[in-house]
Amino acid sequence: MKGTDIQLAAEYLLRGETVAIPTETVYGLAANALDEKAVARVFEVKQRPLHNPLIIHVADVEQITRYTNELPPAAQVLLSRFAPGPLTLLLPRNSSIPDIVTAGSPLVAVRIPDHPVTLELLRLTDLPLAAPSANPFGYISPTTAGHVEKMLGEKIPYVLDGGPCDAGIESTIIGFPDSVPTIYREGAIPKDHIEKLIGAVAVFAGKKIHAPGMSAVHYSPKTPLILCDDLEQVVRDHDHFRIGVITYGNYAVGVTADNQWILCKEQDWETAAHNLYAALHEMDERNYELILAKTFPEAGLGSALNDRLRRAAMKGATNDNRTGN
Ligand code: TXA
Ligand code: MG
Repeated sequence: MKGTDIQLAAEYLLRGETVAIPTETVYGLAANALDEKAVARVFEVKQRPLHNPLIIHVADVEQITRYTNELPPAAQVLLSRFAPGPLTLLLPRNSSIPDIVTAGSPLVAVRIPDHPVTLELLRLTDLPLAAPSANPFGYISPTTAGHVEKMLGEKIPYVLDGGPCDAGIESTIIGFPDSVPTIYREGAIPKDHIEKLIGAVAVFAGKKIHAPGMSAVHYSPKTPLILCDDLEQVVRDHDHFRIGVITYGNYAVGVTADNQWILCKEQDWETAAHNLYAALHEMDERNYELILAKTFPEAGLGSALNDRLRRAAMKGATNDNRTGN
């Protein structure tokens, strides 16, 4: 069932049940982070392996300090600018957070979502809510309550509807290994916005499969997807397929307009992020044989958008060997 009853959502969560919640990035699949059994149910509903940890969502900075041991100075600066907002921090956790949330790691991922409905819910429950994106493991994240209902509606008692997500792609994840601010997953806050505040940041380039955002395949539609620099050339090369196109600026030559999703005007990458997953959800229902997507310029948000499209494109290449979120 979906609806806008925050009180009802709070009651389910306090009873240890799983509820989908809106955030400014994507919808989350939430449970009381302090209740191991409730968190285990999130893994089960999502069919996510237990070695892939969850982000906890809290109402304010005071609550971050309730569940963590240390807030590095750079983290404080980032919070003063981006909280609430699409910023997730990896911080040393204290013993109140059960192992299942962090997959045994001494670090917990925490963020303050910038959505009035979920902030109200967090205040009502006074709980930290563990919530991965509310999609089955490996599939595209949901940016509307309708997306969640279609994918997981039968497995959970309630989808709290807060309207379409504003940002449309996941939060940026930052950790501080050896006191070096390091981006573990590119997301809705571009790297240059972060660097303006705290100076140079590193980008994590490890290969551990369970490291955040580093799994090769996720955010994947069922339809095979090719990411192209020269979209029109690739369209010509595939003219014998039924193709759908994702692009920006102008329509591509060689495909009828009703088979093209123009995500934004040239340069308006925030709008592209807002529209990307909704386009992929819709395209997946159109029975295309192939989706062709045009690469974004790498600067700013373009880098996070290309990251998501690259992972979506990996699926065909790896024969659906999913390792995603
Ligand atoms: O925007 C978002 O971040 C959304 C909304 C719902 O808040 N959440 C989200 O969660 O994208 P999820 O679980 O789909 O992706 C979180 C990523 C995963 O790659 C996970 O491995 C990583 O964060 N992560 C979570 N806790 C971690 C930890 N303690 N250490 C390292 N990585 C962690
Ligand atoms: Mg996810």
